[in-house]
This record gives sequence, structure tokens and C-alpha cells, in this order.
Amino acid sequence: MRFLSVALAAIAVGGAIAAPAELEARGGSCMPLTTAVALANAFKDLIGEPFNKTLAIHAMTPTFHDYSDSVIELMDSGCPNGPVALGSATFASRAAFIQGQGAQKPIPFEILKVYNNCNSVTIRWMTPAPGTVKPEEPVRGIIVLETVPNTFNAHGQFDWKIQTVYSEFNSGAWLYDLVCLAFDT
Ligand SMILES: *[C@@H]1O[C@H](CO)[C@@H](O)[C@H](O)[C@H]1NC(C)=O
Repeated sequence: MRFLSVALAAIAVGGAIAAPAELEARGGSCMPLTTAVALANAFKDLIGEPFNKTLAIHAMTPTFHDYSDSVIELMDSGCPNGPVALGSATFASRAAFIQGQGAQKPIPFEILKVYNNCNSVTIRWMTPAPGTVKPEEPVRGIIVLETVPNTFNAHGQFDWKIQTVYSEFNSGAWLYDLVCLAFDT
């Protein structure tokens, strides 16, 4: 019982977030399923819809980091002496994501499945999304969103936020699409 009351006290101190049953049952340390799905969809919209800075601010922590060797391999054109070192962050803050992603064309994708965990949510995805231009080769990938409780703005849109993204996909097919679509036009 002592454990439970300490956990509930921690939730009370944490702010005006309503504690869903699932949160209480797991001692206040677990992201609810509804939040996991909402953050997965928010991330999909941040990549696939016209860029929405307000959504980025709600969905991500200020210290957000994004990692993708698949992206770096493309940036480096597959060359080991390319400009960006494999393993480095593709975005090292929320502000960098807003600046970089905000300047990119949307890349709509379809979520195939969402796997929720206590402090992460994994997405399996593919392009083309239904109703969008068919690429030469479909591209499939996996994204892990690591999340933390939203202690940043208690009345924000989400009760958890995305802290780190690990995103890998078939960058060979992506490259093929870029090259072959260029030949088609
Ligand atoms: C941008 O995101 C915010 C927060 O989710 C939302 O309230 C707003 O309607 C969105 N704007 C557009 C144009 O979708």
C-alpha cells in the first residue's frame, strides 16, 4: 500500500493530469494506450501532413533527438566520406526538427501497426500511403518513439511527449525511387 500511495502522491505533484486506470494500476509509470496511439498519429502527421509547428511543440520535448542511419546513408549518398557521420543525430533538438522538417515536403505514409509500451511506442509503416502517388518501389520501415511523462506543460495536448526517435527503413528502395522517378519525368 505504501508503494501505491507514494506513486499516487507523485502523480498529484506532477500536475493536473487526470490519471487513467492504467496509469494507477502500473504505479504511475506507464503511458496509456490512448496516448501511445495519439503520439504515433501525431508523429505521422508531422512527417506526412503540411508542417504544423504547434503540433511539434505539443508532441515533443524541447530536448527531442532523432536518429536514423537510413537517412544519413541517403545524405551521404552511401559514401563513408560523406558529410554526416553514421550514428549521429539527424535532429538534435525540437527546434532543429521544426526548422528541418518544416522545410521539407510532406512524406505521407500509412501506419501498419502500433505497438505500445510503458515508455515507448513502436510503429511499423509503409509508403505509399493510400491515395498518394505510387513510388517505383514500396518502402517499409520501423520507428521507435521513446516517451517521457509531460512535465513540461500540464495542460498540453498530450500527457506524455516524444523524447527520442529511432527510425530505420529500406533506404535502398528509397534511393531507387528517387533515381528512377527522376528518369521517368
Ligand atoms: C496544428 O496542431 C494543433 C495542435 O494539435 C491543432 O490544434 C491545430 O488545429 C493544427 N493546425 C492544423 C492546420 O491542422
